[in-house]
Amino acid sequence: MGFRKDFLWGGATAANQCEGGANEGNRGVANVDLMPLGEDRYLVGTGKMKMYDFDDQHFYPALTAVDFYHHYKEDIALFAEMGFQALRISIDWSRIYPQGDDEYPNQEGLDFYHCVIDELLKYHIEPVVTISHYETPLHLVQKYGSWRNRKMIDFFMNYCQTIFKRYKDKVKYWMTFNEINNTINFLPDDASDEAYQEAYQHLHYQFVASARAVQIGHEIDPENKIGCMICGITYYPLTSDPEDILFNRSKWEKGIFYCGDVQCKGKYPTFTKRLWKEHNVQLDITEQDLEELKKGTVDMYTFSYYMSQAVTTHKNDDTVSGNMSFGVRNPYLEYSDWGWALDPKGLRYYLEMIYDRYEKPLMVVENGLGAYDKIEEDGQVKDDYRIDYMKQHIIEMKKAVDEDGVDLMGYTSWGCIDLVSAGTGEMKKRYGFIYVDKDNEGNGTLKRYKKDSFEWYKQVIASNGEKL
Ligand code: BG6
Repeated sequence: MGFRKDFLWGGATAANQCEGGANEGNRGVANVDLMPLGEDRYLVGTGKMKMYDFDDQHFYPALTAVDFYHHYKEDIALFAEMGFQALRISIDWSRIYPQGDDEYPNQEGLDFYHCVIDELLKYHIEPVVTISHYETPLHLVQKYGSWRNRKMIDFFMNYCQTIFKRYKDKVKYWMTFNEINNTINFLPDDASDEAYQEAYQHLHYQFVASARAVQIGHEIDPENKIGCMICGITYYPLTSDPEDILFNRSKWEKGIFYCGDVQCKGKYPTFTKRLWKEHNVQLDITEQDLEELKKGTVDMYTFSYYMSQAVTTHKNDDTVSGNMSFGVRNPYLEYSDWGWALDPKGLRYYLEMIYDRYEKPLMVVENGLGAYDKIEEDGQVKDDYRIDYMKQHIIEMKKAVDEDGVDLMGYTSWGCIDLVSAGTGEMKKRYGFIYVDKDNEGNGTLKRYKKDSFEWYKQVIASNGEKL
């Protein structure tokens, strides 16, 4: 059997991690521009440290990133050479509406993405567009408190309407909010009731915004396929203690199913009451909102998968953190240079579990290995560890398709070209098939080099995942 004939193989990026060109094309300042490299990044990202202006003590990697803004033709040509059938990009809201609440969109921003999309179509590469990949105009954060405020729904709708209309007939695949569930995942288990209140409210407004976007997107073009995007983590109980089993269940409910259920089934799941009660959460939810959720269920479930996470209620000092999640070391697994569990079987488990729950087409829109790469004097990068990581994950994907009948639409590996790490702001945490000469502090020629994985992925695509 194998993967579907129209399976979409490709790669994934996000504007704030690859574009740069922050001060060009009339773009406004985005919240992520102010996420510095170094220790303060986590504090700014979690809102524990307010940073609304640039200073000389910090380096802000998103401002220049890998300069896709000026290199997109060269980069897309390389993706085409690998045979990409899809490229996931995000549109940076602050290029389209620099302040977020502007009356008219910014023509230069619209034109930029028009050119990028046309360049992709020239090579028959499907653009897969994330509407919001952690990028929000800073003005909306400062003036309205971002997603704490219901008004955000209208600003977001305005933005969605503009891009759905402008790129009609060019873009068919969309997703609303990248890793929407991280608002909850990011909270430590002992977070305060106020933090939970804020996170659940923020999510509710995003759910409504997403559901309205799905409806508008379908009205503008019935061909549009609009998905949710979930940070996929396979949680395991570390022991068979029933307390651990229940704790693990709560991780799935809170971290994975809560968002997926609302966006795929159009209503809050039954366990919601318990989750809210645990933290005395009282939300602003109207009847109209609940109607919108019902009408705006997504067409597909897209997700990222890098790792699994073991969790326990027992005292255990061997803690590990991973992609927006916290847990303890799983003795059966190996860990990456950044301490993320390497667990291809966890991907199969996730695919089967989610497909069984929603019966909607799935797409893996992020997967890959962040590693230290060494460039040899002759420009070669021997990244066999990356090839091995991806090979093992594709094997498990294939089993999920062949043996369990999962309807999998595509696979876009993360950071198909080296880009800035979202978690750490580093450049040296590399994921790409293409090496970019740039270091953590922003030095380098920006020259692009093909890694060994480049040729490998080319044959994977050409054989529709048969030649690994
Ligand atoms: C996901 C994000 O969380 O993981 C990406 O959607 C991110 O933006 C990716 O880059 C990998 O995480 P990191 O921290 O290694 O960049």
